[in-house]
Amino acid sequence: MATRPSTDSGRFGRRTFFKSMLFVAGAAAVGGVSACSQNEGGTRRGQPEPRGATAQPRPLPIPPLYTGELKGSTRSFELTAQRGEFEIVEGTKTATWGFNGAWLGPTLYMRRGETIDMTVTNNVGEPTVVHWHGLHLPAAADGGPALIFAPGEQWRPTWKIEQPAATCWYHPHPHEISALHAYRGLAGGLIIADDESDALDLPRDYGVDDIPVIITDAKFTDDGQLDETIDPTYGLLGTTPLINGITKPRLTATTRRLRLRLLNGATMRFHHLELGTPFHVIATDQGLLERPIEADAILLSPGERAEIIVDLEPGKDLTLRSTGVPNGGGLPKEETTDGFGLRDTFDLLDIVAPAQDAPAQDAPASREEPGALPTKLVDKHDANADAAPTREFRLNGFQINEQSMDMARVDFAIDHEGPEIWKVTNENADWPHNFHIHNARFAVRAVEPLGGNAEASIDFTHGWHDTINIPPLSTVTLLVEVGYYPDPTLAYMYHCHMLFHEDQGMMGQYVVTRPNEEPALGPAGHDHHAV
Ligand code: C2O
Ligand code: CU
Ligand code: CU
Repeated sequence: MATRPSTDSGRFGRRTFFKSMLFVAGAAAVGGVSACSQNEGGTRRGQPEPRGATAQPRPLPIPPLYTGELKGSTRSFELTAQRGEFEIVEGTKTATWGFNGAWLGPTLYMRRGETIDMTVTNNVGEPTVVHWHGLHLPAAADGGPALIFAPGEQWRPTWKIEQPAATCWYHPHPHEISALHAYRGLAGGLIIADDESDALDLPRDYGVDDIPVIITDAKFTDDGQLDETIDPTYGLLGTTPLINGITKPRLTATTRRLRLRLLNGATMRFHHLELGTPFHVIATDQGLLERPIEADAILLSPGERAEIIVDLEPGKDLTLRSTGVPNGGGLPKEETTDGFGLRDTFDLLDIVAPAQDAPAQDAPASREEPGALPTKLVDKHDANADAAPTREFRLNGFQINEQSMDMARVDFAIDHEGPEIWKVTNENADWPHNFHIHNARFAVRAVEPLGGNAEASIDFTHGWHDTINIPPLSTVTLLVEVGYYPDPTLAYMYHCHMLFHEDQGMMGQYVVTRPNEEPALGPAGHDHHAV
């Protein structure tokens, strides 16, 4: 039996430092206070030591950058989901899944304006499907659960990149087993570039000063295999955090300025990330901010991304740490807070700074003092929401608006271009949730704590998102812009991105139609793909 979440607002009286992608500690730093120093270096009592934690660090693996094949303005990719074996922990071979390799996938690179021609081959022996998280594209290319395809089959979606530069990702989306397929290793990064972002003086030499940092986790059986026991409350929450697929990684920097593309690809775990020194956030899920924002910490709920700029001092090494979500994420200090791992702390990634005496002829950039960051990154985008329709979503247990996901049900249609206002409420007092919308970006307009708790204020004004944490007993107001690709026959998803919650049915479907057109879903798994 799952522990059922509570909706009793009387249990919610503490200060919530909640935010998602928002800069709690950055705000605290203005007052000269570190929001999280009590966690520094410590491990919560009773927290199991992650497997491999005592081993020698290994060099951070960088997933290969896969630029596909460019012909004119069409870029083609071939991805094969396959099985393999990988040393997630040094010295132990673990059976894994991956794309074009044993474990995880290459980082896909594409540019705004290009047409993408994707071929995905399913060689994992089970039906699956791949979703391009963060992309705006026709539903037939989105990779939702209706597009699941059989082992041995290929799926060939195509779409045009019509969105700004961003760090996105791809992962499986088969109905009710997305978490398991992602956990086994079907996940990879996806970089969208454009001319505007390339013109900015920001690091973008992939694997050198532009580094993917993909955070996932695992738990292991005694013989070193992935433990696939799904806890009825906490799902596949791993006890061993992984960066780019391994334990205990070390990045040896050759330049003093790094851009880290952080992706929380964990199925259930929230990460409140710190480096022990301030850094600059330059991008959220859906691309660059208007300007760099200084911060001491950033919270990423499952599925969220951020790009940060870290300036290294010669000889001063850093560690990327997960320091526990401030105030336990606003949940009561009871077993669920610990069960969801919200207070867990981990050392994730050691970063070795260039040495004082780095030989300049070998690595001229390594001693170069980083210049000032650009003060402006992208133009402010003012969406006029005066005429925007409003929708409400109440998250409770494993349901949204008292309903579980039904692939045959369309929850609503969006039959217009232009923004909408979505108000999303976490009705639970003691369960975390977050919220992700396919084929969309949103700005956070407001976060209103329920129950008169006025202290849960967050800095919600920055950036475009596609996934956001919803604090317990709070309502988040989102200005949503969906990609307008009318197709009454196929749906897009919105869901909690704690993948166990999604798999349990905490998901709904919308379709995009022409004005006044009725949705008319086709049968699931029909001929959107051929062998
Ligand atoms: Cu990463 Cu349906 O999402
Ligand atoms: Cu998505
Ligand atoms: Cu949830």
